[in-house]
Amino acid sequence: MLQFHYIHHSCFTLNDGKTTLLFDPYLDGNPEGLGPEDIKADVIFVSHYHGDHLGSAYAIAKANDALLVSTAEIANDAASHSLRSYAMHLGGTHRFPFGRVRITPAFHGSGIAGGHACGFIVEFGGKTVYFAGDTSVFGDMALLSRLEKIDVALLPIGDNFTMGPKDARLAAELLAAPLVIPIHYNTWPVIAQDPAAFKRDVEATTHSKVEVVEEGSTLDL
Ligand code: NI
Repeated sequence: MLQFHYIHHSCFTLNDGKTTLLFDPYLDGNPEGLGPEDIKADVIFVSHYHGDHLGSAYAIAKANDALLVSTAEIANDAASHSLRSYAMHLGGTHRFPFGRVRITPAFHGSGIAGGHACGFIVEFGGKTVYFAGDTSVFGDMALLSRLEKIDVALLPIGDNFTMGPKDARLAAELLAAPLVIPIHYNTWPVIAQDPAAFKRDVEATTHSKVEVVEEGSTLDL
């Protein structure tokens, strides 16, 4: 069984009962009051270097001796901080002991010199999960759905810094994922959105179902 736990913003874990994958561990203001010391993770994914995505990645990686997976620029930076890291880049795939990972483009600032923001498609626990990272909608999401049979798509809907709900609806259509989970909204007033309205819109106009997962709660995928 694969469990999705939504901490808040773009921070969540996937757990298959053996291994915990942690994504974009920004913890400031999370409703469970979790600090870096509360997080157990085997592998940490970082989509880009902005503070609300890198978050506490280095502290958690150090405390857990976790492997940090990211683009080369961030992986090299992590290595320079004496952390275990694995460098990939856009379009690359790699099979790890826990599953296979593809790095996808994301149209967004990298936050680090020479870098590129990314998303991840992770084959893990019997599911293929796409975490879009921070991005606009882009037409090659249709290509991603040809490269990988995506079961679950985690899409930002906050607008302003990323795609908003209307654009994320189109992303859901392009990705053709049976399940969509909205993320990266309501963290601050500037990205306030109504996920129930997003759910109604997507389910009325695409083949995807939407699960709105409350911050601090867990969903069996
Ligand atoms: Ni960002």
